[in-house]
Amino acid sequence: MSTQEAGKRAVGEAAAQRVTSGMKVGLGTGSTAAYLIKALGRRVREEGLDIIGTPTSFAAERLARAEGIPLVTLDAIERLDIAFDGADEIDPGLNLIKGRGGAHTREKIVESLADPFIVIADSTKLVDQLGTTAPVPVEVLPMALGPVTRRLEKLGARPVLRMAKSKDGPVVSDQGFWIVDAYFDGGISDAQALNEALLHTPGVLDHGLFLGMAKRGLIGNPDGSVQEVVPR
Ligand code: 5RP
Repeated sequence: MSTQEAGKRAVGEAAAQRVTSGMKVGLGTGSTAAYLIKALGRRVREEGLDIIGTPTSFAAERLARAEGIPLVTLDAIERLDIAFDGADEIDPGLNLIKGRGGAHTREKIVESLADPFIVIADSTKLVDQLGTTAPVPVEVLPMALGPVTRRLEKLGARPVLRMAKSKDGPVVSDQGFWIVDAYFDGGISDAQALNEALLHTPGVLDHGLFLGMAKRGLIGNPDGSVQEVVPR
């Protein structure tokens, strides 16, 4: 196992220990969140941990079902007691870029309903400025690809339509939309302005900037230790 993978596993398993019976838990997407879901599943089976999960993607849903975690949709509940999810970048204010797995739209909905939302990640995800190592994924209505791409260029991005690996053509999200990865060479100078601009672009469903949403972070180090961080 790589040191990065060790950090992911350590933080996923540490996060699962923060959950207590009776909680409604938002279940994130990605390899770090998968460690959390597997550890929660073990606690459900072995300790009788009594929780209900709300998944952030088909992938998280399938894994949670396989692990025996009871699930509920957002039609049935108003708030979540806690949510955990990974990130592609985390800045010192715990602002995030998410969506390498293309799940950012559902992740944002679920995590906006959780108090607290805790980001879980290995230490390679920490950055000084958002956009320096990861693009911002933008979920786009297919017929709006042209106008959204041109708008992204005007906002200073280098937009790249995300292509599928085991299928010809673009990645299709859980919503049936396409994903454009917006690269900002040199980083994003004003993430709040970019957030506003993207949300006001017709044809954009949502994007991977999560600003001010994570109240705490758990960071897994290569040696398997985990540290808790708060926004600076
Ligand atoms: C999926 C996400 C993931 O949480 C993010 O990409 C981190 O993934 P990983 O834990 O596999 O590094 O936002 O849409």
